[in-house]
Amino acid sequence: MVNIILLGPPGAGKGTQAKRLVDERHMVQLSTGDMLREAKTSGTDMGNRVAEVMAKGQLVTDEIVIGLIEEKITGNAGGGFIFDGFPRTLAQADALGALMARTGQTLDAVIEMQVDDVALVARITGRFTCGSCGAVYHDVTKPTAKPGTCDVCGGTQMVRRADDNEDALRQRLMEYYKKTSPLIGYYYAKQQLSSVDGLAAMDAVAAAIAQVLDKR
Ligand code: AP5
Repeated sequence: MVNIILLGPPGAGKGTQAKRLVDERHMVQLSTGDMLREAKTSGTDMGNRVAEVMAKGQLVTDEIVIGLIEEKITGNAGGGFIFDGFPRTLAQADALGALMARTGQTLDAVIEMQVDDVALVARITGRFTCGSCGAVYHDVTKPTAKPGTCDVCGGTQMVRRADDNEDALRQRLMEYYKKTSPLIGYYYAKQQLSSVDGLAAMDAVAAAIAQVLDKR
C-alpha cells in the first residue's frame, strides 16, 4: 500500500492519472476539487461561498479543505490514498503531515507532473467529463469513441466545468505559482519528491508514475 500526492498545475493530468491508479491499483482518489464541487451543490451558505471562490479560480480556505480531507483519511484506503489537488498551500502540507502522523500512516511519494502553460490552456479548454461517472475526456487528445457517449458507462450527459475558461485559468495558474509551487521545494527537502514529464502521452506518464510507485 502506498500513499501519494499528485502535484501539478491545473490541467497537468492529475485527475486522469489518479483514475488510472484507482482502476489498476485499487487506490482511493481523494480529490479536493471533486469534494468541493459536490459541496457546491449542497445549497448551504458554505456551498455558495465555495462556488463563488471556485468560479473565480481562487483557492478555497485551508480550514475548509483540511476539514474535508480529515473526514476521509480514516476511511478505507484500498491500495493507498492518492491526494489529487491537495495539499495546495504550505499550511495544508503541514496539516496533512500531522494528520498522517496522528492516524499512523505514511506519505510514500510526491509526484510532480511537469508541464508548460501553453499546453495547459489547450488541455483545459478542450476538457469535458461524463456527468454520470466522471470519466475525463478531451476534444482532441481523448475524444469518446462514439460522439456524446461515455466509453466507460455509456452515459450521454457530458459536462464542462464553470472554471474551465481562459480568465479563470489565468487566476488558477497565478494561485498555483504563488501558493502551491513552493511545495515542490518543501517535499524535495524532505526527500519525497519525484518528477515526471506531464507533457508525454498519457500511457507514458502512467508508466513513469508506475516506476516511482514500484520503487516504494
Ligand atoms: P481541481 O478540481 O483540483 O482542479 P485543478 O487542480 O485546477 O486541476 P484540474 O482538475 O483542472 O486538472 P488535472 O491536473 O486533474 O487535469 P486532467 O487530468 O483533468 O480544483 C478546482 C478548484 O477547486 C481550484 O481552483 C480551487 O478553487 C478549489 N480547490 C481544489 N482543491 C483545493 C485545495 N486543496 N485548496 C484550496 N482550494 C482548492 O487533464 C486535463 C485535460 O488534459 C483532460 O481533458 C485530459 O483528457 C487531458 N490530458 C491529461 N493528460 C494528458 C496527456 N498526457 N496528454 C494529453 N492530454 C492529456
